[in-house]
Amino acid sequence: MKKITIAIDGFSSTGKSTLAKQLAQKLQYVYVDSGAMYRAVALYVLEHKLIAVKVLDKATLIDHLPRINLAFRYNESLKASEIYLNGVNVNTAIRSMEVSNTVSTVATVPEVRQQLVALQQHMGKAKGIVMDGRDIGSVVFPDAELKLFMTASADKRAQRRFEELKRSGIEVTYEAVLDNITSRDHLDSTRKDSPLFKVNDAIEIDNSNMSLDEQFEKVLALVNSKLQSITN
Ligand code: CDP
Repeated sequence: MKKITIAIDGFSSTGKSTLAKQLAQKLQYVYVDSGAMYRAVALYVLEHKLIAVKVLDKATLIDHLPRINLAFRYNESLKASEIYLNGVNVNTAIRSMEVSNTVSTVATVPEVRQQLVALQQHMGKAKGIVMDGRDIGSVVFPDAELKLFMTASADKRAQRRFEELKRSGIEVTYEAVLDNITSRDHLDSTRKDSPLFKVNDAIEIDNSNMSLDEQFEKVLALVNSKLQSITN
């Protein structure tokens, strides 16, 4: 069976990665969380104190880019890939609120984007990939056979992310999560380089009132009809 590329973009905490993982598992495709890569660079920035009072030292970050090595490694027991920053597993560390509050500023830097986009395109060369992010259908894989654009109300998204963070033991208030989501949405949609927007050929999915199963069934039907149209 021919393999396709599936690009999933959308606002913060719209469940892109949950859907992408489900699809990759069902189709036996590779799953790549491009947001994890931006988060890992943000973690590097924090660790090296390249940001102070929300002001990013862009010049030094650009200087350091050749020293930032990112890789995904499959964890057999978790049955999932985890991200490594310079050889260190940072899969949990990149989910902190500190990283969440820094990442969208780091993601505005064109040099950072160039480096990560090149890596992402390399990973998707053989197709059979599901990647989620903000610029996957527009910049990373403009020729993707299936493009999805996920949305949901800010309140629903904040509630879901708040529960998720609580489950993983991160102490945070609902208000702080809502604040982070709305400010990231704003930064992501208004930045000059590769802003988040719905490309013309993307299918919009508003999952405010959809269960995970309903969403998965709906998208799987889209995938199957795409695969059929390609095979015929
Ligand atoms: O928290 P959530 O899962 O919604 O976001 P994420 O996918 O982990 O991405 C974190 C941040 O990385 C986003 O808010 C963007 O600022 C940035 N990002 C980006 O600029 N381009 C991508 N392709 C993916 C993420």
